[in-house]
Amino acid sequence: MKRLEDKIAIITGSGAGIGKQIARTYAQEGAKVVIADFDEKALQTTVNALQEQGYDALGVKVNVAEASEVQAMIDDTVEAFGRIDILVNNAGVGDNMQAAAHVEDATWERVMNVNVNGVMHTLRAIIPIFIKNGGGTIVNMASITGLTGGRGGLAYTASKHAVVGMTKNVASQYGPEHIRCNAIAPAQVETEFSARMTNVDPFGLEIATRGVNLMPKAGQVQDIANIALFLASEESAYINGVALAADAGWSAY
Ligand SMILES: NC(=O)c1ccc[n+]([C@@H]2O[C@H](COP(=O)([O-])OP(=O)(O)OC[C@H]3O[C@@H](n4cnc5c(N)ncnc54)[C@H](O)[C@@H]3O)[C@@H](O)[C@H]2O)c1
Repeated sequence: MKRLEDKIAIITGSGAGIGKQIARTYAQEGAKVVIADFDEKALQTTVNALQEQGYDALGVKVNVAEASEVQAMIDDTVEAFGRIDILVNNAGVGDNMQAAAHVEDATWERVMNVNVNGVMHTLRAIIPIFIKNGGGTIVNMASITGLTGGRGGLAYTASKHAVVGMTKNVASQYGPEHIRCNAIAPAQVETEFSARMTNVDPFGLEIATRGVNLMPKAGQVQDIANIALFLASEESAYINGVALAADAGWSAY
């Protein structure tokens, strides 16, 4: 028996990077996966690759910052598969490492709209479905910046602290409904995430990365997908409301 046999899983931001690897790992473990991303080309490439390997994958174009699009994603999934068991809130964007004195309004709004409002939108839409189904599992992608203070810009750090807060709030309030909500807090993972940042704040970058040489190593997408698999599976049934640092011990110092 595979670890996610016949489970239905939505993974946001799964057209690329960490989310894409989580989707592949879930599919390998028997889940039917929904590749939800606002990059249509990336999501279609991912869906095609999974289907060619014989996995059940549905592509849904969604901007998680838009509540109506999130609702449509949930409705499309229920229509296609009849049920939802697992939600991975992985879509997220960076803040160009802007320190507090240099935060641009547009950066603040974009980061909050995607990283915070996006997670709220999916939680609000999925929880009633999970309650009706008798339970469900949520995995939120936070960041080590959600557990520490100085390793990112102001907006990104605030947004990932909010993700950790939402994780604990949902676990605490809906645990009795058999809903589990946990977060992963990765350090640096090798994806296109940093390359997507433009016009980086030199001051913010310098102070946020001054401890990077103490990080034993960067993570690979499979390292994070393995944790997301554990948190989605029954093996973590007794874990609820935690934010697991995935940083090779970097923040333990
Ligand atoms: N890479 C890292 O070092 C790192 C470290 C800690 C946490 N994280 C977090 O992990 C998550 C995934 O990061 P990644 O490194 O794979 O990034 P990535 O940029 O490689 O991939 C992110 C994916 O999310 C999609 N996306 C972005 N905004 C979206 C939106 N509004 N709606 C739907 N889809 C959207 C993108 O199109 C892309 O396919 C993010 O939440 C990020 O904050 C990344």
